Amino acid sequence: MTDIIRTSDGSHTIYVPGLDEHYHSVHGAIQESQHIFIGYGFDSCGANPCRILEIGLGTGLNALLTALRSATTGQKVLYTSIEKYPLSNETASMLNYPSLTGEGSHEVFSAIHSCEWETWTDITQLMQIRKIKEDFTGMDLRGKFDLIYFDAFGPDKQPEMWTAEIFEKIAIVSEPGTILVTYSAKGEVKRKLRACGFEVTMLPGPPGKREITRGIRK
Ligand SMILES: C[S@@+](CC[C@H](N)C(=O)[O-])C[C@H]1O[C@@H](n2cnc3c(N)ncnc32)[C@H](O)[C@@H]1O
Repeated sequence: MTDIIRTSDGSHTIYVPGLDEHYHSVHGAIQESQHIFIGYGFDSCGANPCRILEIGLGTGLNALLTALRSATTGQKVLYTSIEKYPLSNETASMLNYPSLTGEGSHEVFSAIHSCEWETWTDITQLMQIRKIKEDFTGMDLRGKFDLIYFDAFGPDKQPEMWTAEIFEKIAIVSEPGTILVTYSAKGEVKRKLRACGFEVTMLPGPPGKREITRGIRK
């Protein structure tokens, strides 16, 4: 039984009892995703097409907001998302994001969740998605990306996702100018990013979070 809860902006998130952790900020899931991943990530990335790598597809909220944003800007997107524990379609269908994000969202959100894994699928005229069902810690990642949504569970709850080796793996698939955004503002995250070639900036966070981290590969 999945624990879906309503956050302060009215949008849902999922609580994971085993980790005592939520998928998003309880101060507002859509607000957080929009502020960090779209605002400081997608809106700052001029590449067209923009090759995005997401660590943790989860509810598909970042993917949905990216597809909707790309439809308004005309920027093409190639979206690769890694997920070890996919949500069931039943759980995904209970999330209220499509009813809060405007016309056309239902089709896009349902396409994100129903499309095949491990293969590229058109989910809008401008965005293709490739979902990969794998454990990122053991994965041999290939390719190059312009933008990375680093959205694992927090470093205190899932330290194995925030190691120097994980950030090295990401550095290998980045190029000069690649942007990485994450909600964590921990000192050790900044240090590890700097150690593998990212110039790190702290930016004001969404409600409930003072700062977030953005790295740009040198
Ligand atoms: C903070 S939530 C992601 C939120 C997601 N981006 C969204 O918009 O809903 C973290 C996600 O990472 C996934 N995850 C946890 N461990 C993982 C691993 N080793 N490899 C890949 N994904 C993992 C979780 O299942 C979860 O979906």
